Amino acid sequence: MESDIELHVDGRARQVRLDSRTTLLDALRDGLGATAPKKGCDHGQCGACTVLLDGRRVVTCLTFAIAHDGATVTTAEGLADGERLHPVQEAFIERDAFQCGFCTPGQVCSAVGMLAEVAEGRPSAATADLAGAVELSGEEIRERMSGNLCRCAAYGNIVDAIQDGAR
Ligand code: FES
Ligand code: FES
Repeated sequence: MESDIELHVDGRARQVRLDSRTTLLDALRDGLGATAPKKGCDHGQCGACTVLLDGRRVVTCLTFAIAHDGATVTTAEGLADGERLHPVQEAFIERDAFQCGFCTPGQVCSAVGMLAEVAEGRPSAATADLAGAVELSGEEIRERMSGNLCRCAAYGNIVDAIQDGAR
């Protein structure tokens, strides 16, 4: 069965007709030409397909597009303000936090989503003090970014970049 849905992708309202079984990842990439989210594993295990969906980070390969008619999607491309990069994107460049770059759009979206969760005071499994403000330690970042894999192992620089991007 096919359905028509609308998604607001990186600031633009987009309509797409799709099979009801289409994942949000395939709707974005194949239906709407948004190539920032990458298809790594297609099984929810690598994080390469991460976007911000109504402000929350999600892996789009595990999400049906039809369940999000009318939603706002921000890909790594949409994080920039015109020519001006998002502070986390700038920090990834300055810290050389990528090598092949395939995982980077998902890493950047996940980092932005994770920093919003920290700002809201949401604890993770690595948070020692559940009553106080979350300290953005390396351990805290590693735990919160554990759903995003990088086969080039740029992890050390990614942690540094996220700490810089949060300042
Ligand atoms: S492609 Fe979605 S988690 Fe790997
Ligand atoms: S930079 Fe290559 S997979 Fe992460």
